[in-house]
Amino acid sequence: MPVVNLNVLRGEAEGGEYTEHFEVPYEDGMSLLDAIFWIREHQDPSFAVRYSCRSANACKECSALVDGKAGYLCSIRAVPDSEVKIEPLRALPWIKDLATGLE
Ligand code: FES
Repeated sequence: MPVVNLNVLRGEAEGGEYTEHFEVPYEDGMSLLDAIFWIREHQDPSFAVRYSCRSANACKECSALVDGKAGYLCSIRAVPDSEVKIEPLRALPWIKDLATGLE
């Protein structure tokens, strides 16, 4: 079964950061936000990510750095058997994991 390998910067502003690796089963058409939902459902419900519209690319709350480039997690498609690095946007106040303030 194909998987998506996510290396995600996690932690909290006051507790420091670390990178955690997740292997997520790939499904056709899944976005990186869908992959994070899988992690929250199956591995770590405490994983913090901000979102509202989930796919309309309208709320812009799921902004993150994906392999160093800013983008919206709900509109970036996962690629089977790929490896991707995801970090919170550095220009915004960091809260926890991928969640930032909405400045
Ligand atoms: S969740 Fe709204 S733009 Fe991604």
